[in-house]
Amino acid sequence: VAAVRVRVRAPASTANLGPGFDAFALALEEPYDLVEASPLDEGVVVEVAGPYRVPEGVEENAAGYAARALLEGLGLRAGVRLRVVKGVPPGLGLGSSAASAAGAVFAVKELLDLDLDREELVGYAAEGERVSAGVGHRDNVAAALLGGFVIATPQGRTLHLDPPGSLGLAFAIPRVKVPDKKTGVARSVLPDRVPLEDLVANVAAASLIAAGMATGNLEVLREGLVDRVVEPARSRLVPGYQEVRSRALEAGALGVVISGAGPTMLALYDRERVDGRQVAAAMVEGFAEAGVEAEAHVTRPGRGVVKL
Ligand code: HSE
Repeated sequence: VAAVRVRVRAPASTANLGPGFDAFALALEEPYDLVEASPLDEGVVVEVAGPYRVPEGVEENAAGYAARALLEGLGLRAGVRLRVVKGVPPGLGLGSSAASAAGAVFAVKELLDLDLDREELVGYAAEGERVSAGVGHRDNVAAALLGGFVIATPQGRTLHLDPPGSLGLAFAIPRVKVPDKKTGVARSVLPDRVPLEDLVANVAAASLIAAGMATGNLEVLREGLVDRVVEPARSRLVPGYQEVRSRALEAGALGVVISGAGPTMLALYDRERVDGRQVAAAMVEGFAEAGVEAEAHVTRPGRGVVKL
């Protein structure tokens, strides 16, 4: 018997971690979106409630777009009504659209009792990313669905690893005006071609990140948090990028990267050795040096979508 209503919690996430562009992401303990799905005779209808607002039209809403992709992809005639309580601020590089899309496909799966596992939901949720990014990148939705650290390949493999227990995450969220469809803009500045030596450096760095996550060796992870390809191109979209990096490293961070497509900056740190609030405060000072106000946020890697 199909459920009358399903409610889920879907986490924010941070994609890339520097050299893992479009392949790596971490789910965050918070913030998160709440997504509720209830049955409808046909079609997809979305209602959005605060604290943050995003468009409700299915063409412009990641949750609606992803839910429709799931229903159409499976050839189902059923419709669904979605209510999204947006707790993840949109447009800042915190996987806001991915949280909504992952929450939506998971809630619809539960509502209609579909026999799909989390990995199988990733591709449908990624369709929701077309709304803001123009392409269906799978990194953020994979993290939002599976939790922890994920490797999501464009070919469709999704791998989950439990990140090291003492890994802490400090964010500085600058108060800057972001363009509409910001991820699309942040992708448009990326190079078409990559020098071989940068490719080699990034492959090596990304491998260190994956190995550090798998083995719990934060020193190995630290060495991998350097990107020679995407961040150099995007850094000019983040006023204060250099200052924030320097300040966070001085405060003891393992590494500092742009969170997803930015403009939020992420510092990773060892919770056993460093106070995350100090790292976040140092990042806020870094932004201030560049004349930009910013908000600090400290959290940890978290679980994937949870049914409430
Ligand atoms: N991997 C994507 C990008 C994440 O960096 O464009 C966007 O949230």
